[in-house]
Amino acid sequence: MTDLPVNDALEESAELSQVRAEATALRAELDETNQGVLALYAELDTQAEELRQASDLKSRFLSYMSHEFRTPLGSILSIASLLTDELDGPLSPEQHKQVAFVSTAARELSDMVDDLLDLAKIEAGRISISPAWFDMFDLFSALRGMFRPIVDTTAVDLILEEPVGLPKLYTDDKKLAQILRNFISNSLKFTQRGEVRVSARLENEREVRFAVSDTGIGIPAELHAALFEDFVQVDSPLQKRLRGTGLGLSLCKRFAELLGGRVGLESEPGVGSTFYVVIPIAFAQEHVDES
Ligand SMILES: Nc1ncnc2c1ncn2[C@@H]1O[C@H](COP(=O)(O)OP(=O)(O)OP(=O)(O)O)[C@@H](O)[C@H]1O
Ligand SMILES: [Mg+2]
Repeated sequence: MTDLPVNDALEESAELSQVRAEATALRAELDETNQGVLALYAELDTQAEELRQASDLKSRFLSYMSHEFRTPLGSILSIASLLTDELDGPLSPEQHKQVAFVSTAARELSDMVDDLLDLAKIEAGRISISPAWFDMFDLFSALRGMFRPIVDTTAVDLILEEPVGLPKLYTDDKKLAQILRNFISNSLKFTQRGEVRVSARLENEREVRFAVSDTGIGIPAELHAALFEDFVQVDSPLQKRLRGTGLGLSLCKRFAELLGGRVGLESEPGVGSTFYVVIPIAFAQEHVDES
């Protein structure tokens, strides 16, 4: 019995070395896991960098391409207008028609290039907001003037409700006008009879809501969510006869976000659609920095 302590000590040291061995194995395992995690992080970093470069490249490609398209398009437009003005001799009625086709196509292409350039600038973070105080009456009368030539030739009424009792806005009126112009031109495109109505009202004490409602073909509910993405168009017999790229609404959404606001729609097929934009009455720089 006297050797008991020795036994105890032996047992204890066996246990200890087992624990130690286990700890070493555990540490080795942890080291391995750590290295695995580090490797994964490095891979993620590389992928994020690659994605960033791809996105940069896309934005740069879009802006170079759009920029390079403008010069030849400008030449086509001015030569077409020289021909129409018959500065180099008279045109036959058929030739007048053909030159008109050339101008219309060139103008459409030029609009598309402008949209692409805007999108590229937004993606590259190079679009600047220039806020200023302005009156909604002025904005509405500018819109009325802009659409008068189109409305005069259609069966659809364009009604711009007087924006009474609304405060002055401090925001980028050009961007806001571009959003409303896109909404109105869509509504006029997709409405064959009835009216397109533009209104403005206070959403709350900080924000104002602009809405463009039409009595047009409407949009099925399952497509509402995707509609503000690039190149999304709804398949319909009317669509096939109309031109457009599917970039208008995507630009509206991005411009609204740049102004610190949001866009949305309510629409029912066969009844009509309402597209709206809600923006702060006074633009604050941090809205942009947050995003
Ligand atoms: N008021 C509306 N009524 C019915 N459909 C609409 C209306 N506004 C938009 N849409 C649908 O949403 C699609 C996308 O609109 P968006 O303005 O982005 O593109 P687009 O008008 O086809 O082309 P773009 O504006 O680039 O010239 C339209 O093609 C149409 O299918
Ligand atoms: Mg459009």
